[in-house]
Amino acid sequence: MANNRQRHDAITTGNICLVGLMGSGKSTVGPLLADKLDFTSVDLDAHISSSLKRSIREIFEEQGEERFRAEESRQLRLACANGKQVIACGGGVVLSPENRGFLRRQTTVYLKVSPEVLAQRVGAAKDRPLLAGAASPVQRLATLLKEREPLYLDCARITVLAEGKGPHVIVDDLLTRLPAHESPETP
Ligand code: S3P
Repeated sequence: MANNRQRHDAITTGNICLVGLMGSGKSTVGPLLADKLDFTSVDLDAHISSSLKRSIREIFEEQGEERFRAEESRQLRLACANGKQVIACGGGVVLSPENRGFLRRQTTVYLKVSPEVLAQRVGAAKDRPLLAGAASPVQRLATLLKEREPLYLDCARITVLAEGKGPHVIVDDLLTRLPAHESPETP
């Protein structure tokens, strides 16, 4: 167990990775949290899209999920290289055991939301390949959650119940729970 000084260093120089299913609020919470901590906010999907010069849907359709996952793993490591980043990860980043090991070495936060609320938030989700063609988005999200929740819990140091709360409340809650949250600026 790290002592307080090490915990403080871990949060002042380390990275915070947000994980959870699509619609759990990672891309909304990420920039707000980064702002409070004076960290840089990174949206992993945006980096993948810009690196491969295609939308996420086009990458899945034209290059396949395997290519997407390889680039996702690469971008995760690139994003973490500098430290002091809040990284909103795509919902499937935890599928790779190597990524889970890597995420365990960051401060990883799982934003937990029920399939019903996720489905309301993502709506028709034309740009979300994993929901494309699903007769019932709620059912599909429930299946994904069943498969993935153990993986999120396997790498997250903190789980936040992220429904019925606005993003600012989630950020304030997180700030009280991050290691050495008390003063990221304190030397
Ligand atoms: C995916 C989630 C998406 C995106 C891609 C695959 C997944 O990101 O990375 O469509 O496997 O759950 P969000 O979780 O940000 O929607």
